[in-house]
Formats: sequence, C-alpha cells, structure tokens
Amino acid sequence: MKKIIANELREKYLEFFASKNHKIIPSSSIIPENDPTVLFTTAGMHPLVPYLLGEAHPAGKRLCDYQKCIRTSDIDEVGDNSHLTFFEMLGNWSLGDYFKEDAIKYSYEFLTSEKYLGIDIDRLYFTVFKGDEDFPKDTESYNIWKSLGVEDDHLFYLPRENNFWILGSGIGPCGPDTEMFYDTGKPKCSDDCNPACDCGKYLEIWNDVFMEYYKDENGNLSKLKQQNVDTGMGLERTITVLNGYESVYDSTLFKGVKEKLEELANMKYEDNKKSFRIIMDHIRTSTFILGDDHGITPSNIGAGYVLRRLIRRSIRHLRKLNIESFVLNDLANIYIEEYKSVYEELIRNKEFIFTEMEKEYNKFVKTIKDGERLFYRVIKHLDKDTISGSDAFKLFDTFGFPIEMTEELAKENNLKVDIEGFNQCFKEHQEKSRTIDAGSFKGGLADTSIESTKYHTLAHLLLATLQEIYGKDIIQKGCNITHERIRFDFNLDHKLSDEEKVKIENRVNEMIKTNTPVIWKEMSYEDAKKSGAHGTFDSKYKDLVKVYTIGNLSKEICGGPHVENTGVLGHFKIVKEESSGAGVRRIKGILE
Ligand code: ALA
Repeated sequence: MKKIIANELREKYLEFFASKNHKIIPSSSIIPENDPTVLFTTAGMHPLVPYLLGEAHPAGKRLCDYQKCIRTSDIDEVGDNSHLTFFEMLGNWSLGDYFKEDAIKYSYEFLTSEKYLGIDIDRLYFTVFKGDEDFPKDTESYNIWKSLGVEDDHLFYLPRENNFWILGSGIGPCGPDTEMFYDTGKPKCSDDCNPACDCGKYLEIWNDVFMEYYKDENGNLSKLKQQNVDTGMGLERTITVLNGYESVYDSTLFKGVKEKLEELANMKYEDNKKSFRIIMDHIRTSTFILGDDHGITPSNIGAGYVLRRLIRRSIRHLRKLNIESFVLNDLANIYIEEYKSVYEELIRNKEFIFTEMEKEYNKFVKTIKDGERLFYRVIKHLDKDTISGSDAFKLFDTFGFPIEMTEELAKENNLKVDIEGFNQCFKEHQEKSRTIDAGSFKGGLADTSIESTKYHTLAHLLLATLQEIYGKDIIQKGCNITHERIRFDFNLDHKLSDEEKVKIENRVNEMIKTNTPVIWKEMSYEDAKKSGAHGTFDSKYKDLVKVYTIGNLSKEICGGPHVENTGVLGHFKIVKEESSGAGVRRIKGILE
C-alpha cells in the first residue's frame, strides 16, 4: 500500500465525495454553538445535529468535511501510542438522502480503489450490528458487504456496545453502525480474536452510522423523520494505521514540533517519548483552542480551564526536558504553519495565540516554582509513601499549586496523595472563611431577607447577560449583596460606555420580564459540569452541588437562596461602573 500523509488523505477524501455529488462544507468551530452539555465539538456530526433531526441544510442533503474535534476524557492517557486530545474527523453525510446501500458502496470504493486508498481487500474486516431487544439485526448491511465481494470470514455481527453510535451525552440522533478495520498482519491473539478485540491485530479506520433513531434525555427512543448516514474517519489514526506507524505521533503532522523539541532539549524523542508526546499533543490542542474565533482564554472555568490545564501541563513537561525559557510560541508557530492552508483561522488569530500563551506562561512559571520547591521540601521529610492531605492542601492554598499537579509529581516519585484528607482540609477551610466573612452567606449575601434574595437571583441574570454580550469567558470575580444593592465584579478589559451600560440594563430587564421560574436540582459536581452549569471551578470538589436553572437563560452551581420567579425582581438599574483591579470591572446596581 502507498504511504499517505495527512494533507493527501484530506484531499482525497473530499475529492472522492465531491465526485459523488457531496458539497464540501467548512469545519465548524471547536466550541459547539448549540450544545451546552459539552465544552468542545467531539465528532464530525456534532455541528450537524439540527440537520440530522430534519432541519434543511443550506448546502443540501449530501455533505462532506474535515472537522476539528477535542476529546479530553482520556487526557491522562496522552503519552501512550494512541491518545490525542485534538483530532480531525473526516466525514460524509446523507441527510435523508442515500442510506445503507450507497453509504457502504462509497466506503468500499474509497478504501479499495487504486485512485484513492487502494487497500487490499484481504486486509479489510467489517462489523455490523447483531440486533437486540430494541433494534433489529442489520442483515441488510451484512448483505451489501457480501454483494461487494467481502467473504463471510471478514464479516462479524457484534452487539450494541460495539456497533451502535450516539454522542457521549447519550442524547440525540443515533443508530446501528458498520465499522471498517485494517488488519495489521499480527497473529491472532486467540481463536476468538475478532475486530472487537483490542490486542492490536485489527484497527478501526472508519465508521458508517445509520441514524434513524432519536434518544431523549429520559432514554426514550423514537424514529427520526428521515434516515441519515453519518460517517467518521479519524484522520490521525487512519494515517497511523495505513502507514504502519507504531504511534500517532509518527505522523508528519508532528514532525516539525518533534524536531524543534529535540533541538531545544538536546535530547532524543526516542528516549523521552512521554514528555515529548504530552507537549506535542497539548500545544497542538491549545493552539487550536486559542486559534478558534471564540476568543477563549486560559481561565478557571469551562473551556478556559481545559486550555489552562493543557498549557500548564506542557510547561511542566518542557521543564522536565530542561527547557525553561519561553518556547510555547515557537512550537505553536510550527503548528500554525503546518495547518494554515486548511484552517485559515490560525493565521487570523496568530497574535492572539501568541499573546495568550505568553501571559499564561508568565503566570504559571511563578506558581510552579514556588509549588515544586515546597513539594520537594515536603517529601524530603516524609516517613511513609503518602503525602498528607494537609500538605497537599498547603500547596494548593498557599501556592495555588493545582492538586492534579501534586498528584502527578507524587506519581513520578512513587508516592500517593491522601485525597480524602485534602478534601477534608478544603471543607474545613471553607467553613472557616465563612466565619471570617462575618454575616455573609454563600453567593456574597449579607442576609437572607427577600430583598437580598432578589439581588442574588439578579446576580445570575447579570452574569448570563454579560456572557451573552462579551462571551462565555466572562466570569464572576466577586459579588457582594445587601438588601439595597448589588456589587458585582467580572473580568473585562475596558470601561463600559454609556451605550454598553444601557444594553446590559435592557437585557437584564428583558430577562426579568420573561417571568421565568427559578428551579434547582442537586447533582454530583461532575454531572453539574457536564450539564454546562457555570460555577467557580474547584477541580477537587467531589460532593453534591445545587444547580440553579433559570429557563434557558442561566444555569449556575450555587448554594442559593433565590426567588421563585424572575418576575418579582422589578427593574434593574446600574448606578455606578468602575475598575476593581487589573482587567476587572465592578458594577453597582439596584432594583427599583
Ligand atoms: N459519529 C460517528 C463517530 O464519531 C461517525 O464515530
């Protein structure tokens, strides 16, 4: 088989599907526009959900593209041969147009035709859905593969856990799929070895999903009004498999950064794979997050927090390679050059990428120096293999050293961390600071009178409004409430003009007038985060939290209390706007 690089695979894929009357659509943003359940676009079909549900797509019923995706659930696995936090997914879609027969024929032709991938059919294996109590056995797909000449011993019926696809949230369009595998030529690990086996003999390269069902949030299934096809081919993975690489990092996509790191560190990739790979992966993902047009910056919440973690972890691993100077922009620039012809937003946002990388570097270098010094001082005096909760908490509280980093450093030194003890210290600390802030309640309330409670609900509407106007990265920096006013601090880089103040007032008042009920639900912190709720990010927080929802206007992790309906708030007015520190503005407002 011919060797193939990423640019060729992208081009061939689009060319093939364009020749089958598909319209090429651009990659959507890496930040999902209409899905509050996740922080990032996780699959090629993600931005197309409304169209899979029946809305007409402006480009028609046959589409294809390459889509930027981020999946961070396996972030701790990055460093091995296969895990990446950023990847591209090639896909073709039928929105109520062709179904199983053409989808499978197209896949077969693209994989085997000399003009495209030219893979020997003997190297290919296929799986189809076995059927269960909810969905019938997919004999149709099986027979289509057979009609193309695929032998029975290359075809496998597998259950739902292997051959059924739905978004990670478990809600949305879904259906049985047929998957395509490449045989690496390794011997079978056992007589039962089949494509579902993870011994490494068979590697998946493509997935055709036949989306004709919908699963709602209560788990109920219904038929969609149209039969769709959604396919996904992971670009990096396919390149790796087809070229017979040992790891995804052997692709030419990483070559430039790998060589630069070898030069900067004066060390070989082969001898330092883990750190090299973490840096290569995380800088690429950070470059794409900053390079998206959403203006996400490192912060302590949501996508900004993931970005912060990626950049900070890269810096730590650079330091492990003895690279302490600021090199993030040199590395980011290599990726910008590698990808600029297919993702032109990277050029548009180049200065933004560079400025934010540098700002975050400067912030973190200070934290890391202080934290690591203390960490090693702590472990010097350790007489067992566990760092106590109170020492871990001291690192966190005094030096802002993230608990994940204490855990990481501990692992590297063959030590454990008493996380339960850490959580206990955290709770005690919270209790104490509440005493310190005599008279104040959660959320900055001075009392729980109905007037103060109204201002508390107002705080949620104000934050939602500011995020609507200035972007999702606006966070509440502070809030102080009495029964007669609110003082609300948030991050913004400029003084509000009179027009902006009026705009904010008007939008808050509009929200108040919707008479929306304020409801709350208790859930785990993880579920709260997944549901898209805003809240100060405490990465160690594992307890149940309350999530307050105001229709589709606002969703925040918060202890309450709140009014029952926005309608009782009356009329909001900004009485003063001023600076409250670098990059922080303060609004003083009243309800009339
Ligand atoms: N949506 C399918 C996937 O992501 C094609 O694998």
